[in-house]
Amino acid sequence: GWMTDDSAQRYDTQVEVLFNGSANAIRRQLLPPLHEIFAGRDQRTLSLLDVGCGTGRFLHFAKQAWPRLPMLGLDMSEAYTREAKRHLRHWGWMKLLVANGEAIPLPDASQDAVTSIFMFHELPPKVRRTVFREFARVLKPGGRLVVADSLQRGDTPEYEGLLDLFPQNFHEPYYAGYIAEDFRAMARTCGLVHRRDEKAFVAKVMVFDKPGLRSSARRPSRASAASARPVRQARRVLPAGA
Ligand SMILES: C[S@@+](CC[C@H](N)C(=O)[O-])C[C@H]1O[C@@H](n2cnc3c(N)ncnc32)[C@H](O)[C@@H]1O
Repeated sequence: GWMTDDSAQRYDTQVEVLFNGSANAIRRQLLPPLHEIFAGRDQRTLSLLDVGCGTGRFLHFAKQAWPRLPMLGLDMSEAYTREAKRHLRHWGWMKLLVANGEAIPLPDASQDAVTSIFMFHELPPKVRRTVFREFARVLKPGGRLVVADSLQRGDTPEYEGLLDLFPQNFHEPYYAGYIAEDFRAMARTCGLVHRRDEKAFVAKVMVFDKPGLRSSARRPSRASAASARPVRQARRVLPAGA
């Protein structure tokens, strides 16, 4: 149903019901691993790509955290991209693109961070690999990939039953393959390094890095700018007699 306006308009409510109200909280779990690589850098010089951005919920949270960071949301559904555009209309520095994650229309090594939420379980095995390879290709050396999706087999014993029930209750033809997928091996094949997995209720956040040096373009802090100013100039702003 990804291609219809009807589906795009119902999606957010359906997902919140499915996740017992935790979907947005799960999406926000991607912010700390991104903060680790963005902290201290000039956000205007960075780039973030969210693939399978859906209605743009994660991009909204990312914008709240880094309002001046240029972001691109990509989704193959025109209807979902339209809905995202509506949700995100108040933010600047935001582009939305209808495209396939299997052939991302961006140059190699162009993104500081790539994110993807609740998409991999939708993809057939071969497509999972192609998309993952594309993420590795567009990341800059030192860039970070953060993926959030369902827990997998063996992650949380109490939820094993849920993992079996989900594809029976919903139309999820690739879910059984997803919960057995070895993302660490996939990352190795694409030249990415797996950093960690973090569980988030019925989901997990997987963090991968592309080896290489991160650009350290820092925006001068007020303190360092002030200390770099000539003393003569600093005196001028002091009140007379100080
Ligand atoms: C379950 S939704 C997740 C949406 C959003 N990331 C979220 O947080 O709710 C999956 C999204 O992935 C998109 N999608 C599926 N396959 C894709 C592909 N090959 N390339 C780009 N987008 C894709 C769908 O159109 C849909 O919007």
